Amino acid sequence: MCGIVGAVAERNITAILVEGLKRLEYRGYDSAGVAVYTNDQKLERLRRPGKVSELELALAEDSLIGRLGIAHTRWATHGAPCERNAHPHFSGDLAVVHNGIIENHDALREQLTALGYVFTSDTDTEVIAHLLNHKLKDLHDLTAALKATVKELHGAYGLAVISGQQPDRLVAARSGSPLVIGLGLGENFLASDQLALRQVTDRFMYLEEGDIAEIRRDSVHIWDVNGQAVERESVQYRDGTEAAEKGEYRHFMLKEIHEQPSVVQRTLEGRLSQNQVLVQAFGPQAAELFAKVRNVQIVACGTSYHAGMVARYWLEELAGIPCQVEVASEFRYRKVVVQPDTLFVTISQSGETADTLAALRNAKELGFLASLAICNVGISSLVRESDLTLLTQAGREIGVASTKAFTTQLVGLLLLTLSLGQVRGTLAKGVEATLVEELRRLPTRLGEALAMDSTVEKIAELFAEKNHTLFLGRGAQFPVAMEGALKLKEISYIHAEAYPAGELKHGPLALVDNDMPVVTVAPNNELLEKLKSNLQEVRARGGELIVFADVKAGMTNGEGTHVVQMPHIHNTLSPILYTIPLQLLSYYVAVLKGTDVDQPRNLAKSVTVE
Ligand code: F6R
Repeated sequence: MCGIVGAVAERNITAILVEGLKRLEYRGYDSAGVAVYTNDQKLERLRRPGKVSELELALAEDSLIGRLGIAHTRWATHGAPCERNAHPHFSGDLAVVHNGIIENHDALREQLTALGYVFTSDTDTEVIAHLLNHKLKDLHDLTAALKATVKELHGAYGLAVISGQQPDRLVAARSGSPLVIGLGLGENFLASDQLALRQVTDRFMYLEEGDIAEIRRDSVHIWDVNGQAVERESVQYRDGTEAAEKGEYRHFMLKEIHEQPSVVQRTLEGRLSQNQVLVQAFGPQAAELFAKVRNVQIVACGTSYHAGMVARYWLEELAGIPCQVEVASEFRYRKVVVQPDTLFVTISQSGETADTLAALRNAKELGFLASLAICNVGISSLVRESDLTLLTQAGREIGVASTKAFTTQLVGLLLLTLSLGQVRGTLAKGVEATLVEELRRLPTRLGEALAMDSTVEKIAELFAEKNHTLFLGRGAQFPVAMEGALKLKEISYIHAEAYPAGELKHGPLALVDNDMPVVTVAPNNELLEKLKSNLQEVRARGGELIVFADVKAGMTNGEGTHVVQMPHIHNTLSPILYTIPLQLLSYYVAVLKGTDVDQPRNLAKSVTVE
């Protein structure tokens, strides 16, 4: 999960490459580099550890001017994040940038070392540079050399290559890592994500799995996985809403938290009739397929997995459909027994998460009834490879910690639950109409929860000096507690664990003392009284309690107990609402701790490697 940008033009392209990298930092940001075929007809590069801004500073001192170039922002997999491991990697007169993992790099390194190639980095990518150089010596054509090289690579790659021997082109290959060509007038570009190129064009051509591309100033040629020349459709985008701007907010994360009422509204648009969910929202064959569904298997990673866990409560309770939920990295390597007529559901913000994609590909061999992707990116691999799709309308999420993607996924999953229940006739009378009404009110309720921003900011002060936290929830609030704990650890680096509140006395209670704040979500539901008893157990051990409680739950502040009153909401929708204060809490704790909120250490936005 690195970011790639490339350009071939009649003007100096260095600033375009750097701007593209900045827009791709969500993919990785531990080092960055650029290689340019300069106007002095030399291939030169500059690389720096750290963020793209470090590279930019270096370029201000030591400029590179040219009309052909490639650039990269890295998230380290092989080799520490330092200058010599940063991309582009050189071999002779060529430069390579790579997103992905080459699994047979050890064997290739051995072969290439025996042939006299000298390695200067610890990366898997450098084998590609030397192998290409080796092929180029025989074939004398960069495109042909790339075609021959990829035949020997095992693993995942998005690749961009330039060579001083053929400075009229940029060549690229895609297998397992996304690449898009940006089409200009007398100039063309390449990137891992169109976002990087919106500054220079609004016309894009998406490479498909196995494609090789030869990109010149005035032409693009593509060959498919079988080596056949192919045309890929070009798509024009006019929507400017993707602009990566923070606006009035200090961080993207805060902006994205506050966007939730509007993106939830957008996710509902066109999907509800007066008192029903429109099943066609999932695709033209959805009604026919949903009628056959007897089980649901959900697979996802991280925050998206937590959304799946909430959906399990809904699917079993409301639609009476047995549901299993599993993290993709486990599912893909496990021998799975598939029940007949099981719908395979993936959930993903990016639609490019390697484990989720691999799980989907495995699932296709396992006899599932059909696959459905609940995804935020319409042009993603996950969407392209699934039978049915529901696009969440969260808009681009830039903050590495997922916020609005999660709540829109929950909305999508509730629509799925109601659709399955509707088609199969398993919903209790009146449930669908009630929940459709509640869904319409949800954006307003979310706005009310967001209005508690400054209350939560004050509560955050309780955490500034703490190193450990517990999050508790019962029922569908347990995954909400897990999501709250994940957010806190991701951006504030405070150790946080989530437990179903009833599990406390089976072990974790031993950890509780006055240095361990305990955060709880307490909607007014049938588990409230049991939850209150669990909280007593914490107080009795001196643990400080922070409770987000329904205004009707009858909970008030007391010694060591901080209660934040939440707007009342229908119990089914409470996981969506209670997510908001937990997001705000982690945000304000991170701000107090002075961490890099939008780009927390060691993480990347889009995890396209295993
Ligand atoms: C956490 C977070 C990650 C992602 C996970 C899956 O804030 O963002 O846990 O949820 O990497 O990513 P997607 O949803 O793109 O498949």
